[in-house]
Amino acid sequence: MKDALDERRELGRFRELRTVPARGDILNFSSNDYLSLASHPALRSAAISYTEMYGTGSTASRLISGNYGWHEQLETRLAGFFGHEAALLFNSGYQANISIIQALANRDTVLLYDRLNHNSLIQGARLSGAKLLRYNHCDTGHLQELLAREDVRSAPRRIIVSESVFSMDGDRAPVDSLINLARENSALLMIDEAHAIGIAGDEGQGLAGRRDGIDIYLATFGKAAGGFGAFVCCSRLMRDYLINFASGFIYTTALPPAVTGAAAAALDLFPQLSAEREHVRNCSEQLIAGLNKAGIDTLASDSHIVPVMVGDEQVTLALSDALRVQGMHVVAIRPPTVSEGKCRLRISLTANHSAGDISRLINAIENWFHENQ
Ligand SMILES: Cc1ncc(COP(=O)(O)O)c(C=O)c1O
Repeated sequence: MKDALDERRELGRFRELRTVPARGDILNFSSNDYLSLASHPALRSAAISYTEMYGTGSTASRLISGNYGWHEQLETRLAGFFGHEAALLFNSGYQANISIIQALANRDTVLLYDRLNHNSLIQGARLSGAKLLRYNHCDTGHLQELLAREDVRSAPRRIIVSESVFSMDGDRAPVDSLINLARENSALLMIDEAHAIGIAGDEGQGLAGRRDGIDIYLATFGKAAGGFGAFVCCSRLMRDYLINFASGFIYTTALPPAVTGAAAAALDLFPQLSAEREHVRNCSEQLIAGLNKAGIDTLASDSHIVPVMVGDEQVTLALSDALRVQGMHVVAIRPPTVSEGKCRLRISLTANHSAGDISRLINAIENWFHENQ
Protein backbone atom coordinates (compact mmCIF):
# COMPACT_ATOMS: atom_id res chain seq x y z
CA MET A 1 0.00 0.00 0.00
CA LYS A 2 2.77 2.40 0.93
CA ASP A 3 4.58 1.81 -2.36
CA ALA A 4 1.40 2.34 -4.33
CA LEU A 5 0.66 5.54 -2.44
CA ASP A 6 4.23 6.79 -2.81
CA GLU A 7 4.01 6.22 -6.54
CA ARG A 8 0.81 8.25 -6.64
CA ARG A 9 2.50 11.03 -4.69
CA GLU A 10 5.45 11.05 -7.10
CA LEU A 11 3.06 11.32 -10.02
CA GLY A 12 1.31 14.21 -8.24
CA ARG A 13 -1.90 12.12 -8.18
CA PHE A 14 -2.33 11.50 -4.47
CA ARG A 15 -5.93 12.16 -3.50
CA GLU A 16 -7.05 13.44 -0.14
CA LEU A 17 -10.41 14.04 1.44
CA ARG A 18 -11.19 17.69 2.01
CA THR A 19 -13.84 18.86 4.42
CA VAL A 20 -16.43 20.99 2.67
CA PRO A 21 -16.74 24.38 4.37
CA ALA A 22 -20.11 25.33 5.83
CA ARG A 23 -22.65 26.33 3.19
CA GLY A 24 -22.14 29.98 2.27
CA ASP A 25 -18.44 30.18 3.22
CA ILE A 26 -17.33 29.29 -0.28
CA LEU A 27 -18.98 29.41 -3.67
CA ASN A 28 -19.32 25.76 -4.56
CA PHE A 29 -19.07 24.91 -8.26
CA SER A 30 -18.52 21.20 -7.68
CA SER A 31 -21.82 20.08 -6.23
CA ASN A 32 -24.21 17.75 -8.06
CA ASP A 33 -27.14 19.25 -6.17
CA TYR A 34 -28.26 20.82 -9.46
CA LEU A 35 -31.72 21.89 -8.26
CA SER A 36 -30.52 22.81 -4.76
CA LEU A 37 -32.92 20.27 -3.28
CA ALA A 38 -30.51 18.85 -0.68
CA SER A 39 -31.51 21.66 1.67
CA HIS A 40 -35.12 22.08 0.48
CA PRO A 41 -37.69 22.28 3.30
CA ALA A 42 -39.98 19.69 1.64
CA LEU A 43 -37.19 17.09 1.50
CA ARG A 44 -36.06 17.84 5.04
CA SER A 45 -39.55 17.50 6.43
CA ALA A 46 -40.28 14.31 4.44
CA ALA A 47 -37.06 12.76 5.78
CA ILE A 48 -38.02 13.75 9.31
CA SER A 49 -41.61 12.57 9.09
CA TYR A 50 -40.63 9.22 7.50
CA THR A 51 -38.15 8.76 10.37
CA GLU A 52 -40.79 9.60 12.94
CA MET A 53 -43.30 7.23 11.35
CA TYR A 54 -41.02 4.33 10.40
CA GLY A 55 -37.78 4.65 12.39
CA THR A 56 -34.20 5.00 11.24
CA GLY A 57 -33.54 1.71 9.51
CA SER A 58 -35.22 -0.74 7.18
CA THR A 59 -33.83 -3.56 9.40
CA ALA A 60 -33.06 -6.09 6.65
CA SER A 61 -32.65 -6.62 2.93
CA ARG A 62 -35.82 -6.38 0.82
CA LEU A 63 -36.06 -10.17 0.39
CA ILE A 64 -35.68 -10.91 4.11
CA SER A 65 -37.86 -8.56 6.13
CA GLY A 66 -36.90 -5.10 4.85
CA ASN A 67 -39.54 -4.64 2.17
CA TYR A 68 -42.03 -1.96 3.19
CA GLY A 69 -45.03 -0.32 1.63
CA TRP A 70 -43.11 2.95 1.32
CA HIS A 71 -40.45 1.25 -0.85
CA GLU A 72 -43.08 -0.21 -3.13
CA GLN A 73 -45.12 3.00 -3.32
CA LEU A 74 -42.04 4.92 -4.40
CA GLU A 75 -41.25 2.29 -7.04
CA THR A 76 -44.79 2.49 -8.43
CA ARG A 77 -44.52 6.26 -8.62
CA LEU A 78 -41.10 6.13 -10.29
CA ALA A 79 -42.35 3.69 -12.91
CA GLY A 80 -45.32 5.98 -13.65
CA PHE A 81 -43.25 9.17 -13.71
CA PHE A 82 -40.57 7.84 -16.04
CA GLY A 83 -42.99 5.83 -18.18
CA HIS A 84 -42.07 2.20 -17.54
CA GLU A 85 -43.97 -0.84 -16.33
CA ALA A 86 -41.97 -1.22 -13.15
CA ALA A 87 -39.14 0.18 -11.05
CA LEU A 88 -36.72 -1.18 -8.48
CA LEU A 89 -34.76 0.74 -5.85
CA PHE A 90 -31.03 0.28 -5.33
CA ASN A 91 -28.84 1.69 -2.58
CA SER A 92 -26.68 3.78 -4.90
CA GLY A 93 -26.11 4.34 -8.58
CA TYR A 94 -22.71 2.71 -8.30
CA GLN A 95 -24.18 -0.40 -6.72
CA ALA A 96 -27.03 -0.49 -9.23
CA ASN A 97 -24.77 -0.24 -12.27
CA ILE A 98 -22.37 -2.88 -11.05
CA SER A 99 -25.04 -5.36 -10.16
CA ILE A 100 -27.47 -4.78 -13.04
CA ILE A 101 -24.74 -5.28 -15.66
CA GLN A 102 -23.40 -8.27 -13.80
CA ALA A 103 -26.89 -9.80 -13.65
CA LEU A 104 -27.77 -9.17 -17.31
CA ALA A 105 -24.45 -10.02 -18.96
CA ASN A 106 -22.26 -13.08 -19.01
CA ARG A 107 -19.34 -14.42 -21.05
CA ASP A 108 -21.54 -14.75 -24.16
CA THR A 109 -22.81 -11.18 -23.98
CA VAL A 110 -21.38 -8.25 -25.91
CA LEU A 111 -21.52 -4.91 -24.10
CA LEU A 112 -21.27 -1.84 -26.34
CA TYR A 113 -20.24 1.15 -24.25
CA ASP A 114 -19.74 4.80 -25.01
CA ARG A 115 -16.04 5.35 -24.35
CA LEU A 116 -16.82 7.90 -21.61
CA ASN A 117 -19.21 5.73 -19.57
CA HIS A 118 -18.91 5.99 -15.80
CA ASN A 119 -16.58 3.77 -13.80
CA SER A 120 -19.49 1.91 -12.14
CA LEU A 121 -20.57 0.65 -15.58
CA ILE A 122 -17.03 -0.45 -16.38
CA GLN A 123 -16.75 -2.34 -13.10
CA GLY A 124 -20.06 -4.09 -13.85
CA ALA A 125 -18.71 -5.14 -17.24
CA ARG A 126 -15.53 -6.52 -15.66
CA LEU A 127 -17.46 -8.52 -13.08
CA SER A 128 -19.82 -9.95 -15.69
CA GLY A 129 -16.99 -11.41 -17.82
CA ALA A 130 -18.78 -10.13 -20.95
CA LYS A 131 -16.94 -8.94 -24.04
CA LEU A 132 -16.69 -5.15 -23.70
CA LEU A 133 -16.49 -3.05 -26.87
CA ARG A 134 -16.19 0.71 -26.47
CA TYR A 135 -17.33 3.02 -29.23
CA ASN A 136 -15.96 6.52 -29.68
CA HIS A 137 -17.78 9.09 -27.60
CA CYS A 138 -21.30 9.74 -28.98
CA ASP A 139 -20.19 8.28 -32.33
CA THR A 140 -23.17 6.28 -33.58
CA GLY A 141 -21.34 5.52 -36.85
CA HIS A 142 -18.67 3.71 -34.88
CA LEU A 143 -21.32 1.94 -32.80
CA GLN A 144 -23.03 0.83 -36.00
CA GLU A 145 -19.74 -0.59 -37.32
CA LEU A 146 -19.28 -2.59 -34.12
CA LEU A 147 -22.88 -3.85 -34.25
CA ALA A 148 -22.26 -5.10 -37.79
CA ARG A 149 -19.33 -7.29 -36.74
CA GLU A 150 -19.97 -11.01 -37.09
CA ASP A 151 -18.95 -11.83 -33.50
CA VAL A 152 -21.34 -9.13 -32.24
CA ARG A 153 -24.25 -10.18 -34.49
CA SER A 154 -23.93 -13.81 -33.49
CA ALA A 155 -23.76 -13.12 -29.74
CA PRO A 156 -26.86 -14.33 -27.85
CA ARG A 157 -27.20 -10.91 -26.19
CA ARG A 158 -26.02 -7.39 -27.03
CA ILE A 159 -26.45 -4.49 -24.63
CA ILE A 160 -25.81 -0.88 -25.65
CA VAL A 161 -24.99 1.26 -22.61
CA SER A 162 -24.64 5.03 -22.45
CA GLU A 163 -25.00 7.92 -20.05
CA SER A 164 -27.44 10.59 -21.26
CA VAL A 165 -25.81 13.79 -19.95
CA PHE A 166 -22.15 12.85 -19.60
CA SER A 167 -20.77 13.35 -16.12
CA MET A 168 -17.42 14.84 -17.11
CA ASP A 169 -18.01 16.44 -20.53
CA GLY A 170 -21.55 17.74 -19.96
CA ASP A 171 -22.66 16.86 -23.49
CA ARG A 172 -25.61 14.67 -24.45
CA ALA A 173 -25.86 11.20 -25.90
CA PRO A 174 -27.75 10.86 -29.19
CA VAL A 175 -30.61 9.04 -27.44
CA ASP A 176 -32.87 8.81 -30.55
CA SER A 177 -30.14 7.15 -32.60
CA LEU A 178 -29.28 4.78 -29.76
CA ILE A 179 -32.94 3.72 -29.55
CA ASN A 180 -33.03 3.08 -33.32
CA LEU A 181 -29.75 1.18 -33.35
CA ALA A 182 -30.83 -0.99 -30.42
CA ARG A 183 -34.11 -1.79 -32.21
CA GLU A 184 -32.50 -2.54 -35.57
CA ASN A 185 -29.90 -4.80 -34.00
CA SER A 186 -32.06 -6.56 -31.41
CA ALA A 187 -29.91 -5.14 -28.64
CA LEU A 188 -31.00 -4.14 -25.17
CA LEU A 189 -30.52 -0.44 -24.41
CA MET A 190 -29.44 0.88 -21.01
CA ILE A 191 -29.35 4.62 -20.36
CA ASP A 192 -27.80 6.07 -17.21
CA GLU A 193 -29.59 9.33 -16.42
CA ALA A 194 -27.64 10.09 -13.23
CA HIS A 195 -26.94 13.66 -14.38
CA ALA A 196 -30.20 14.27 -16.23
CA ILE A 197 -33.18 13.48 -14.01
CA GLY A 198 -34.76 16.48 -12.37
CA ILE A 199 -32.68 18.96 -14.34
CA ALA A 200 -33.47 17.90 -17.95
CA GLY A 201 -36.90 17.39 -19.55
CA ASP A 202 -39.86 19.76 -19.18
CA GLU A 203 -40.97 17.99 -15.98
CA GLY A 204 -37.60 16.68 -14.90
CA GLN A 205 -37.99 13.32 -16.65
CA GLY A 206 -34.46 13.60 -18.05
CA LEU A 207 -33.52 13.06 -21.68
CA ALA A 208 -34.63 9.45 -21.83
CA GLY A 209 -37.65 9.30 -19.52
CA ARG A 210 -41.14 8.59 -20.91
CA ARG A 211 -39.73 7.14 -24.12
CA ASP A 212 -40.21 3.76 -25.72
CA GLY A 213 -37.23 1.65 -26.60
CA ILE A 214 -35.19 1.99 -23.42
CA ASP A 215 -35.01 -1.35 -21.65
CA ILE A 216 -33.01 -0.28 -18.61
CA TYR A 217 -33.50 3.27 -17.39
CA LEU A 218 -31.13 4.00 -14.53
CA ALA A 219 -30.89 7.10 -12.35
CA THR A 220 -29.80 8.16 -8.88
CA PHE A 221 -31.27 10.32 -6.14
CA GLY A 222 -27.82 11.57 -5.17
CA LYS A 223 -27.61 14.42 -7.65
CA ALA A 224 -30.52 16.66 -8.77
CA ALA A 225 -32.90 14.78 -6.43
CA GLY A 226 -30.84 16.08 -3.49
CA GLY A 227 -30.72 12.80 -1.58
CA PHE A 228 -29.23 9.36 -1.88
CA GLY A 229 -30.01 6.00 -3.44
CA ALA A 230 -30.89 4.96 -6.98
CA PHE A 231 -33.46 3.15 -9.07
CA VAL A 232 -33.97 1.35 -12.32
CA CYS A 233 -37.13 1.53 -14.45
CA CYS A 234 -37.77 -1.47 -16.66
CA SER A 235 -40.34 -4.14 -17.55
CA ARG A 236 -42.04 -6.24 -14.85
CA LEU A 237 -40.17 -9.22 -16.20
CA MET A 238 -36.82 -7.52 -15.79
CA ARG A 239 -37.74 -6.31 -12.29
CA ASP A 240 -38.49 -9.90 -11.29
CA TYR A 241 -35.22 -11.00 -12.86
CA LEU A 242 -33.20 -8.35 -11.00
CA ILE A 243 -34.87 -9.22 -7.70
CA ASN A 244 -33.67 -12.78 -8.27
CA PHE A 245 -30.25 -12.23 -9.83
CA ALA A 246 -28.85 -8.76 -8.98
CA SER A 247 -26.62 -9.42 -5.99
CA GLY A 248 -26.31 -5.70 -5.19
CA PHE A 249 -30.06 -5.72 -4.65
CA ILE A 250 -30.36 -9.06 -2.89
CA TYR A 251 -27.54 -8.94 -0.36
CA THR A 252 -27.85 -5.48 1.13
CA THR A 253 -29.99 -3.73 3.71
CA ALA A 254 -32.84 -1.85 2.03
CA LEU A 255 -32.87 1.95 1.80
CA PRO A 256 -33.89 3.54 5.12
CA PRO A 257 -37.13 5.50 5.60
CA ALA A 258 -35.61 9.01 5.68
CA VAL A 259 -33.84 8.50 2.36
CA THR A 260 -36.93 7.04 0.72
CA GLY A 261 -39.10 9.90 2.03
CA ALA A 262 -36.71 12.52 0.66
CA ALA A 263 -36.70 10.78 -2.73
CA ALA A 264 -40.51 10.76 -2.83
CA ALA A 265 -40.57 14.48 -1.97
CA ALA A 266 -38.06 15.24 -4.76
CA LEU A 267 -40.23 13.37 -7.24
CA ASP A 268 -43.24 15.46 -6.12
CA LEU A 269 -41.27 18.63 -6.75
CA PHE A 270 -39.69 17.81 -10.13
CA PRO A 271 -42.64 18.91 -12.33
CA GLN A 272 -42.89 22.22 -10.44
CA LEU A 273 -39.26 23.24 -10.95
CA SER A 274 -39.37 24.63 -14.49
CA ALA A 275 -38.14 28.05 -13.33
CA GLU A 276 -35.13 26.46 -11.60
CA ARG A 277 -34.34 24.40 -14.71
CA GLU A 278 -34.52 27.51 -16.85
CA HIS A 279 -32.35 29.44 -14.42
CA VAL A 280 -29.65 26.75 -14.51
CA ARG A 281 -29.89 26.70 -18.32
CA ASN A 282 -29.35 30.47 -18.41
CA CYS A 283 -26.37 30.18 -16.06
CA SER A 284 -24.92 27.49 -18.30
CA GLU A 285 -25.34 29.61 -21.43
CA GLN A 286 -23.76 32.60 -19.69
CA LEU A 287 -20.82 30.52 -18.49
CA ILE A 288 -20.13 28.74 -21.76
CA ALA A 289 -20.43 31.95 -23.81
CA GLY A 290 -18.16 33.84 -21.38
CA LEU A 291 -15.48 31.17 -21.29
CA ASN A 292 -15.55 30.56 -25.05
CA LYS A 293 -15.29 34.31 -25.68
CA ALA A 294 -12.11 34.26 -23.63
CA GLY A 295 -10.80 31.43 -25.84
CA ILE A 296 -11.35 28.72 -23.22
CA ASP A 297 -12.38 25.27 -24.45
CA THR A 298 -15.55 23.83 -22.89
CA LEU A 299 -15.83 20.84 -25.27
CA ALA A 300 -19.36 20.22 -26.55
CA SER A 301 -21.06 20.91 -23.23
CA ASP A 302 -24.52 22.43 -23.41
CA SER A 303 -25.66 21.53 -19.93
CA HIS A 304 -25.22 22.28 -16.24
CA ILE A 305 -21.86 20.43 -16.34
CA VAL A 306 -19.20 22.56 -17.98
CA PRO A 307 -15.61 21.37 -18.39
CA VAL A 308 -12.79 23.90 -18.53
CA MET A 309 -10.15 22.09 -20.53
CA VAL A 310 -6.61 22.61 -19.35
CA GLY A 311 -4.75 19.44 -20.31
CA ASP A 312 -1.78 19.32 -17.96
CA GLU A 313 -2.42 17.91 -14.51
CA GLN A 314 -0.29 20.28 -12.41
CA VAL A 315 -1.60 23.31 -14.28
CA THR A 316 -5.18 22.17 -13.63
CA LEU A 317 -4.44 21.77 -9.93
CA ALA A 318 -2.86 25.21 -9.84
CA LEU A 319 -5.96 26.76 -11.41
CA SER A 320 -8.24 24.96 -8.95
CA ASP A 321 -6.08 26.17 -6.03
CA ALA A 322 -6.09 29.74 -7.34
CA LEU A 323 -9.90 29.72 -7.47
CA ARG A 324 -10.11 28.27 -3.97
CA VAL A 325 -8.00 31.15 -2.65
CA GLN A 326 -10.61 33.47 -4.21
CA GLY A 327 -13.43 31.65 -2.42
CA MET A 328 -14.57 29.33 -5.24
CA HIS A 329 -14.49 25.56 -5.05
CA VAL A 330 -14.03 24.00 -8.49
CA VAL A 331 -12.53 20.57 -8.39
CA ALA A 332 -9.70 19.49 -10.74
CA ILE A 333 -10.47 16.27 -12.61
CA ARG A 334 -7.44 14.15 -13.50
CA PRO A 335 -6.52 10.62 -14.52
CA PRO A 336 -7.75 7.99 -13.89
CA THR A 337 -11.15 9.75 -13.92
CA VAL A 338 -10.34 11.26 -17.32
CA SER A 339 -7.67 10.14 -19.75
CA GLU A 340 -4.09 11.42 -19.82
CA GLY A 341 -3.81 14.98 -21.17
CA LYS A 342 -7.54 15.67 -20.69
CA CYS A 343 -7.31 17.27 -17.23
CA ARG A 344 -9.90 19.88 -16.59
CA LEU A 345 -11.96 21.74 -14.07
CA ARG A 346 -15.47 20.34 -13.88
CA ILE A 347 -17.91 23.15 -13.16
CA SER A 348 -21.37 22.11 -12.09
CA LEU A 349 -24.14 24.67 -11.90
CA THR A 350 -27.02 24.70 -9.48
CA ALA A 351 -30.23 26.65 -8.96
CA ASN A 352 -28.50 28.58 -6.14
CA HIS A 353 -25.93 30.21 -8.41
CA SER A 354 -26.62 33.75 -9.56
CA ALA A 355 -25.59 35.53 -12.76
CA GLY A 356 -23.15 37.49 -10.56
CA ASP A 357 -21.56 34.24 -9.30
CA ILE A 358 -21.07 33.10 -12.88
CA SER A 359 -19.47 36.42 -13.90
CA ARG A 360 -17.12 36.18 -10.93
CA LEU A 361 -16.08 32.68 -11.96
CA ILE A 362 -15.57 33.62 -15.62
CA ASN A 363 -13.43 36.63 -14.66
CA ALA A 364 -11.32 34.61 -12.24
CA ILE A 365 -10.65 31.86 -14.79
CA GLU A 366 -10.00 34.31 -17.60
CA ASN A 367 -7.57 36.36 -15.48
CA TRP A 368 -5.76 33.23 -14.38
CA PHE A 369 -5.25 32.04 -17.95
CA HIS A 370 -4.13 35.53 -18.92
CA GLU A 371 -1.50 35.63 -16.16
CA ASN A 372 -0.32 32.03 -16.43
CA GLN A 373 -0.27 31.06 -20.07
C1 LIG B 1 -23.08 8.50 -14.71
C2 LIG B 1 -23.09 8.05 -13.29
N1 LIG B 1 -23.70 6.89 -12.97
C3 LIG B 1 -23.73 6.46 -11.70
C4 LIG B 1 -23.14 7.18 -10.69
C5 LIG B 1 -23.18 6.63 -9.29
O1 LIG B 1 -24.28 7.13 -8.61
P1 LIG B 1 -24.29 7.19 -7.03
O2 LIG B 1 -23.55 8.44 -6.67
O3 LIG B 1 -25.72 7.19 -6.66
O4 LIG B 1 -23.57 5.98 -6.54
C6 LIG B 1 -22.54 8.39 -10.95
C7 LIG B 1 -21.98 9.19 -9.83
O5 LIG B 1 -20.98 9.76 -9.83
C8 LIG B 1 -22.49 8.84 -12.30
O6 LIG B 1 -21.88 9.98 -12.60
